[in-house]
Amino acid sequence: MNNKLAVLIGVAIIVSGVVFFANSMQDTPETKAPTSLPAGFIVPDLIAEQIVGQQSFEQFCQACHGDYGLGTNSGPPFIHRIYEPNHHGDGAFFNAAINGVRAHHWKFGNMPPVDDIVETDIGPIVAYIRALQKANGVF
Ligand code: HEC
Repeated sequence: MNNKLAVLIGVAIIVSGVVFFANSMQDTPETKAPTSLPAGFIVPDLIAEQIVGQQSFEQFCQACHGDYGLGTNSGPPFIHRIYEPNHHGDGAFFNAAINGVRAHHWKFGNMPPVDDIVETDIGPIVAYIRALQKANGVF
């Protein structure tokens, strides 16, 4: 085998390795519904209001904020100290859902106002998120 051919084969192997690595990096965050939860994540028992909130959350918020509020490529996780009640009080959730949010904490872009949601949906959503946060030591 001449030297040029050996170099070419070497380069081809390295390039395919990089492409494979880059693809595997992309696959993980694109998965919207995690099939397994992060190690140690606790799904608490929910009371009636929180169960209603979970249903509304899944309908209106989950596409961006993820299963159990764990985040996706399109929106941040709520199981995060940024969203604990003293930093983002319940009012922030009403405001976000009704008016949308300008990107300021993250690089996901703006949150648009949520179509078809009504204010009475939001209290239970907040109760659900607070239950998840509390069970997982966010506050
Ligand atoms: C289309 C995607 C999308 C949907 C649907 C969505 N959000 Fe968001 N949300 C975002 C993004 C992106 C941000 C982050 C903005 C930033 O950079 O701070 C955000 C931020 C927030 C914040 C933080 C607001 C602040 O003051 O910083 C709250 C609260 C929130 N969302 C609540 C909700 C609730 C409740 C729902 C469902 C009713 C919902 N979001 C649905 C994308 C979404």
